[in-house]
Amino acid sequence: MTKNIDWGSLGFGYITTDYRYVSEYKDGKWDNGILSTDSNVVLNESAGVLQYAQTCFEGLKAYRTEKGQVVCFRPDLNAKRMSDTAKRLEMPPFPEERFIDAVEKVVKANIEWVPPYGSGATLYIRPYMFGSNAVIGVKPATEYQFRIFVTPVGPYFKGGAKPITLRVPDFDRAAPRGTGHVKAGLNYAMSLHAIVDAHKQGYAENMYLDSATRTKVEETGGANIIFVTKDNEIVTPKSNSILPSITRRSLMYVAEHYLGLKATEREIKIEEIKDFKECALCGTAAVLSPVGKVVDHGNETTFPAGMEKMGEITQKLYDTLTGIQMGRIEAPEGWIKVIE
Ligand code: PLP
Ligand code: COI
Repeated sequence: MTKNIDWGSLGFGYITTDYRYVSEYKDGKWDNGILSTDSNVVLNESAGVLQYAQTCFEGLKAYRTEKGQVVCFRPDLNAKRMSDTAKRLEMPPFPEERFIDAVEKVVKANIEWVPPYGSGATLYIRPYMFGSNAVIGVKPATEYQFRIFVTPVGPYFKGGAKPITLRVPDFDRAAPRGTGHVKAGLNYAMSLHAIVDAHKQGYAENMYLDSATRTKVEETGGANIIFVTKDNEIVTPKSNSILPSITRRSLMYVAEHYLGLKATEREIKIEEIKDFKECALCGTAAVLSPVGKVVDHGNETTFPAGMEKMGEITQKLYDTLTGIQMGRIEAPEGWIKVIE
């Protein structure tokens, strides 16, 4: 039985669900892992995560398809990215096959929380890992927890499919130079001030520029960016300091192989965005959210698609991607993991 929730009115928030997956790393190995009903984490006051922010996370979703199955979208890529992130943070990677197996277990255990097909909501899956034993000198922990919880979510941006406005902030996106491509908690902590400030000034998100030259478009606090040129080419920033978005990689493939559009990853100068026809944010949480306007210190760019609706190409990309995720359109081999 599906839970009795008004799925259509859900925003992007946390709701405690029934089970979470927990595995502990000690004496050089991961234990077998359990499903727990306890949503609290109890830690020593000097735990590595609390003192030196040794933590990372992932984000993916489970979808109810048109035919009533429950599926995940490319969880192998989240498993791989989390391993890469863990290595960068001197944490022991959680084995990639076990990551996928744990996702399957935790979604199955919370199957009643998977929103119905067509409700507009999905089940967000949050794997995360942190240093759990006491450390006081600046060094990695020796014990860790890998956990996954799930929570049903609606649209990331208020207003659903309405285009949003971004601003170019005076802040850099990530914490230390060179860690922008990993999904480390500290990078998000360092973006909180910028997002609070953006919201205060009426903007939905920040469009960060490269910190070395402040001339090139990077990404936003929680999503990558794509643009559509006047010739209907999809372009997206090439940078090794942005998160390698799985949604973006998938959209580039969809553009080329499903829609017959050219898709290019290249450096994008902030001064050229005025020449683009459409702009959108892409990510697991953001899906594909249209951007109507970008404000760069008083210099406003309103894309021709405007502030009322998604641009035509963005809409096609959105329909194809969500069609694949919800089982309406045949997926490329290996993209869909059936859970139930
Ligand atoms: N960029 C940032 C900073 C993010 O937090 C996310 C979300 O995970 C993305 C991009 C999009 O990545 P993905 O499509 O893999 O969810
Ligand atoms: C995601 O899309 O999974 C993200 O991590 C974005 C944000 C919720 C942090």
